[in-house]
Amino acid sequence: MSHAEEEHEGNRRDFLYYATAGAGAVTAGAAVWPLVNQMNPSADVLALSSIRVDVSSLEPGSQLTVKWLGKPVFIRRRSEEEISAARDVAISDLPDGIARNDNLGDVPADDENRTLDEAGEWLVMMGVCTHLGCVPLGDAGDFGGWFCPCHGSHYDTAGRIRKGPAPTNLPVPVAEFVDETTIKLG
Ligand code: FES
Repeated sequence: MSHAEEEHEGNRRDFLYYATAGAGAVTAGAAVWPLVNQMNPSADVLALSSIRVDVSSLEPGSQLTVKWLGKPVFIRRRSEEEISAARDVAISDLPDGIARNDNLGDVPADDENRTLDEAGEWLVMMGVCTHLGCVPLGDAGDFGGWFCPCHGSHYDTAGRIRKGPAPTNLPVPVAEFVDETTIKLG
């Protein structure tokens, strides 16, 4: 099997694993897809596409994955423990000290600069490993966040790279709450 084929296999396997990894994710995903599909734009407005995601079913410590512009996006409602774990980290311990948050520009990778709300309960980021593009697994890895099994990248509970070959933190896309239970991507 060529390297490229292995990569492809890795991607596909991880994505399938991820999709079936948690009953929460599957249930929530099922609720989200109709909304996403309904709002699926015609080809001529694809470039402007934004979607709204109902997050009312998410309990603290769980997440859902939606597909947006052809890529997975992780929406996680973090538990108190996840928030404190992320906030206790010194920036000097981070391989990538930049927040990578499209809502903020070039600011330091403090946890506060990664989350959607001030309290840090909501984390939205692209579910694409910054190494070679696999989909990382949630609730996994040495830092309690995400783990990319393709080549062993460990992300913390703020989606920041901590160990392994991925060069940068998982990117935070343009996102906002448009009402108490709806997040708009894009
Ligand atoms: S794609 Fe290589 S570690 Fe994620």
